[in-house]
Amino acid sequence: MATTNEPGTQSAVVKDTGPEAGRPVVELRGAGKAYGNIRALHGVSLQVRPGEVTCVLGDNGAGKSTLIKIISGLHQHSEGEFLVDGEAVRFTTPRQALDRGIATVYQDLATVPLMPVWRNFFLGSEITRGPWPVRRLDIEAMKKTADEELRNMGIVLDDLEQPIGTLSGGQRQCVAIARAVHFGARVLILDEPTAALGVKQSGVVLKYIAAARDRGLGVIFITHNPHHAYMVGDHFSVLRLGTMELSAARSEVSLEELTNHMAGGAELAALKHELAQVSGVDVEELPEEEDLTAPVPATPEGKS
Ligand SMILES: Nc1ncnc2c1ncn2[C@@H]1O[C@H](COP(=O)(O)OP(=O)(O)OP(=O)(O)O)[C@@H](O)[C@H]1O
Ligand SMILES: [Mg+2]
Repeated sequence: MATTNEPGTQSAVVKDTGPEAGRPVVELRGAGKAYGNIRALHGVSLQVRPGEVTCVLGDNGAGKSTLIKIISGLHQHSEGEFLVDGEAVRFTTPRQALDRGIATVYQDLATVPLMPVWRNFFLGSEITRGPWPVRRLDIEAMKKTADEELRNMGIVLDDLEQPIGTLSGGQRQCVAIARAVHFGARVLILDEPTAALGVKQSGVVLKYIAAARDRGLGVIFITHNPHHAYMVGDHFSVLRLGTMELSAARSEVSLEELTNHMAGGAELAALKHELAQVSGVDVEELPEEEDLTAPVPATPEGKS
């Protein structure tokens, strides 16, 4: 692509994704958002391509949710540009984003726990049959389609009649992903889908993120976890205090580098300095600055 370097990202390590990459479905160019006088996001450039996973990493308050709220139509950007299929847009409702094929799976999945899996799959978009005024829900068609779509994604559930509330958090995320794929999403936004999950369930969700990518969707995967990001990511964007600190293709960044960006070596060193002035904290036991920028601190509490 021509440019990823926008004013406002000068301090970022911006690398190009290469000429072979496809045209972005969704693109932000120097985008930002202020809530009153709080600048939550500033100068962020990001490209989402079909068949790729774009990971957005960052600590609490980094601006990750603000970024996806702009793309999913919940908030509007107050600076820069937001493009879909190369056309500048400004969504005022999530419906407008959905109509352009941008589906968002929020962490607190909007499901009805006591309703069966197949019913949740079609929630708000039920299949009906028969003419008005005797139109009825086409239960058989919905069950069959839900079953097929879940299987197409490699998700096998014993019984689609079971209430969705009885599924594990990971399984519910997977159903939400299959649902977005079925309803024609081209871009799938996942807000920290693995945050509340254990190792095994996270693995399952990562597998379906890869499955959605292989079906040609552009995936935006929000996470705190560089390990999860690196397992499926094609591109990595690290946000810090609302600006983009790193934007790099997979070939340009190692897991160690990504982890270091997330760990914020310099910030931890500053914290150590501050803690030194608080009585009761033995800073000698904290790792040295060099250790903080080294790959994944193994056992920080180990006394040497
Ligand atoms: N509606 C709002 N009004 C005012 N400030 C907000 C609003 N939403 C977010 N902010 C502020 O914007 C900044 C970025 O918040 P955001 O929720 O985007 O971060 P985040 O990266 O999603 O964090 P987390 O990992 O905790 O979810 C924070 O300083 C937050 O306090
Ligand atoms: Mg958030």
